Amino acid sequence: MILAIETSCDETAAAVVEKIDDSVRVRSSVVSSQIALHAPFGGVVPNLAAREHAKNVVPVVESALRSAGISLSDIEAIAVTVGPGLAPALQIGVAAAKSLSYIERKPLIPIHHIEGHIYANFIERRRPNSETRVQTPEPSTSPFPLLALVVSGGHTELVLMHGHFSYEILGATEDDAVGEAFDKVAKMLGLPYPGGPEIAKRAREFQDNLNDALSQETIPEFPRPMKESGDYRFSFSGLKTAVLYFLKKNESKKIDKNFINAVCYEFQEAALDVLLAKTRRALEEYRPKTIVLAGGVSANTELRRRMGEMVALDFPNTIFLMPPFEYSLDNAAMIGAAALFRWDCMSPEAKAQSLTEWQTLNADPNMPFNSNRLQSGRSLEDLAA
Ligand code: KG4
Ligand code: ZN
Repeated sequence: MILAIETSCDETAAAVVEKIDDSVRVRSSVVSSQIALHAPFGGVVPNLAAREHAKNVVPVVESALRSAGISLSDIEAIAVTVGPGLAPALQIGVAAAKSLSYIERKPLIPIHHIEGHIYANFIERRRPNSETRVQTPEPSTSPFPLLALVVSGGHTELVLMHGHFSYEILGATEDDAVGEAFDKVAKMLGLPYPGGPEIAKRAREFQDNLNDALSQETIPEFPRPMKESGDYRFSFSGLKTAVLYFLKKNESKKIDKNFINAVCYEFQEAALDVLLAKTRRALEEYRPKTIVLAGGVSANTELRRRMGEMVALDFPNTIFLMPPFEYSLDNAAMIGAAALFRWDCMSPEAKAQSLTEWQTLNADPNMPFNSNRLQSGRSLEDLAA
């Protein structure tokens, strides 16, 4: 059983997870959100976030242990998000995890935030899910090669995994991440923070009313940047600027709800068209066994639906996984999930070394994704049994 802590942005989270066969069982997952605190500022204020994490981290850990029905001594290891993220926010979680590791004499496992988002797909689904095509990896069969479409507030990339913790980045965004574009466009439209869910909601409203009076509205047409670039690079800042110019041209309509909904719809369509086109290309080129969604934007129901449809129709032999909704956004269960698999890949020496990790571990706000770092800067290859 692993206790995991996540404080990279504006959620203080702790979870207790364990491994059953090849999937991850969540015994408890607690997330204390700071959305209300940051909303008046239209985005996350790092020092405010850190202050809240400092206030909440111990009660959140306590609550995770209590709802798992265990005490600290029952835990076998402690996992923590070490980066990337906001430095003052990360430091609180890392300091808490180091203290627990030292006091309880338990191994400390540092985890990359995006790795956590990918491993959220290995969390078991306990209740039958009404969503279409939600699958779990078959225990005992390998899900690799696995293609991950990573879509969060800070990352947009297509990652090919040849095995556990072996990442090949096929392409990434050249500028804004897709979640960041959702948030910025929402801000331009005067919608509340965080913008992603709000845009998704309004796009749905627009779609539901497509045939009535709303269709008379000037329907915007936005570009699909780099859709035909012939590679796996993304760019979302041009799309954001196109929205900005369109709004400037139609300043007087900005108070019209129907107009705002139309902009949300077309923006989301443009962003999803690009994500799906690039994913299709990677599926054709690499023919992976599994495709997964990862990161906060994977909570977008239209993305989930369209990806499911594309895979079912054109790649019927590919397994499509998406994280359960509750583990799409930032949480600690996904960090614990990655740590459980990391632990299994570690040699006895690496496991022993993780007992003293608390002496050296530091938050790494710009941690590169494809680093195979396990702890103290040593690579996975160095430590492999
Ligand atoms: O993974 P996450 O919770 O935090 C980061 O690691 O960045 O992702 C947050 C991002 C935000 O940009 C948020 O607007 C976006 O995910 N997001 C969504 C939706 N829910 C959250 N974007 C589009 N549609 C959604 N339903
Ligand atoms: Zn995240």
